Amino acid sequence: MILRLLLLAVGATWVPFSGSNAALKSCFKNTLIDRGSFAFAGDLFYNHIVNRYNLNIPVTPAAMAFPTVPQSTDIQSRPEVEDTAMAITVRLQRYLLTDYFSLKTNMRYVTGLGGTDGAVAIDLKHLQQFSMDNTTWQATIGAGSLLSDVTQRLYHAGGRTMSHGICPQVSSGGHFTIGGLGPTSRQFGTAFDHVLEVEVVLANSSIVRASGTANKDLFWAIKGAASGYGIITEFKVRTEPEPGTAVQYAYSLEIGSPKDQAALFKSWQAFVSDPKLTRKMASTLTVLEHSMAISGTFFGTREEYDKMNLGKRFPGAHGSVLVFDDWLGIVVHWAQDLVLKFGAGIPTNFYAKSTSWTPQTLMTPETIDRMFDYIGTINKGTLGWFLLFDFQGGYTNDIRINATSYAHRDVLIWLQSYTLDFFGHISQTQIDFLGGLNKIVTNDALPYTAYPGYVDPLMSNGPEAYWGTNPPRLQQIKEQVDPNNVFRNPQSPSPTKEGEYRCQKGL
Ligand SMILES: *[C@@H]1O[C@H](CO)[C@@H](O)[C@H](O)[C@H]1NC(C)=O
Ligand SMILES: *[C@@H]1O[C@H](CO)[C@@H](O)[C@H](O)[C@H]1NC(C)=O
Ligand SMILES: *[C@@H]1O[C@H](CO)[C@@H](O)[C@H](O)[C@H]1NC(C)=O
Repeated sequence: MILRLLLLAVGATWVPFSGSNAALKSCFKNTLIDRGSFAFAGDLFYNHIVNRYNLNIPVTPAAMAFPTVPQSTDIQSRPEVEDTAMAITVRLQRYLLTDYFSLKTNMRYVTGLGGTDGAVAIDLKHLQQFSMDNTTWQATIGAGSLLSDVTQRLYHAGGRTMSHGICPQVSSGGHFTIGGLGPTSRQFGTAFDHVLEVEVVLANSSIVRASGTANKDLFWAIKGAASGYGIITEFKVRTEPEPGTAVQYAYSLEIGSPKDQAALFKSWQAFVSDPKLTRKMASTLTVLEHSMAISGTFFGTREEYDKMNLGKRFPGAHGSVLVFDDWLGIVVHWAQDLVLKFGAGIPTNFYAKSTSWTPQTLMTPETIDRMFDYIGTINKGTLGWFLLFDFQGGYTNDIRINATSYAHRDVLIWLQSYTLDFFGHISQTQIDFLGGLNKIVTNDALPYTAYPGYVDPLMSNGPEAYWGTNPPRLQQIKEQVDPNNVFRNPQSPSPTKEGEYRCQKGL
């Protein structure tokens, strides 16, 4: 099979390479018009360069490339390159959390199972362009920018911000295309709801712009499934004024009985499922081995917060409140909180699952009791596990399910569950714990919904779970823009009907 292999040219020096993989090397040489900076499997320090994030999925790409040219007009590529079985993986930055297939990336461009060995990985960390139009307050952001840099740059360009997640080391390239939920999403939408236009390199090496008016189908696919359609190099986004003051709250329960935990969960679920609750309220309920906490940010004043009397809503939990007057302080607090709880960003072995509820499918009190009984009694195989119940709704629910390829517009609560092992591979007991939990909390209702950014390679119905009713249209667009399936992973949209629901199991 001939694959048109697209490669981005780069500007530094050649990384010395060993004698292996001659075909790939000659292909790189013939393809790259600029001088390049890249590395091949077998090179000295290759493992270090690959820098895996989820050690449980030990992917070895055939090569890594690091384009350094910030402007797409300088990116040179040549399409017609013969090769046998290579797909392209794009790693948009070093420390990305939400894609467990492709190294430390939240873009999913890996061939074969769990990102089978042999893909080409392109790391866009050098694409850092930034500008702000201070008449429209629209920003242009390079796809390799980390969220921490996006926060800083928007802030210093007129006190602006946009919705995104709280992990500073996640990169915008994947995050802004797969969803990008964060504390301000209830007010302003997901990260990609802010995206007005993208620059994208297609499988045939054309560089195009896609927006609500240009390449509309592609733009639709990119908002939720971009990794199967091309390499995004630049975003144009709308921004909001940074929130002035905010209250950071936490209510925690140390070592409660399953009954106490279930009671606290029920009061939280009642709290967040009140349709009248302000969109300025963000909230997450976290369950750990020995504790449970309700925490979040209220984007308003202390007086407004006090009026809601949250302490009364969460009896038995120990409350604490911090008031922030500056946006950067709030963002730093989120990151610190995360590191304290989970040591975010450190490479480790882990497995994760997700599922969700709409206002119509919330857990009954009996199901909540069953969940905490299960957690209290089952062998989890580790102490390193946690559950995050994230309150969504608000603006993210205002948008039609078919308006973007991201389909989970009716979700009120997301569950993201993790099990970790710092020393070795994840055991079947650990996997079974999360699988059993998902069955209980959804009353065994298939298909499970899954957040496309929380990749679960063991899930048998990937496309439906990630994209709901949108896979048929995703397939049509895939057929047009990437008929040879250059950009792929085991669960990405396929250009053929037969491939659509095909799913391969196994890590
Ligand atoms: C917009 O940017 C220009 C040039 O940097 C600056 O002179 C002007 O004051 C800015 N306007 C606003 C509203 O920030
Ligand atoms: C989305 O669904 C609505 C209502 O079902 C339909 O009218 C509309 O044409 C659909 N839009 C797209 C882009 O498929
Ligand atoms: C590349 O693919 C796009 C999308 O299918 C198409 O519009 C464009 O004409 C193609 N470019 C070339 C040079 O074939």
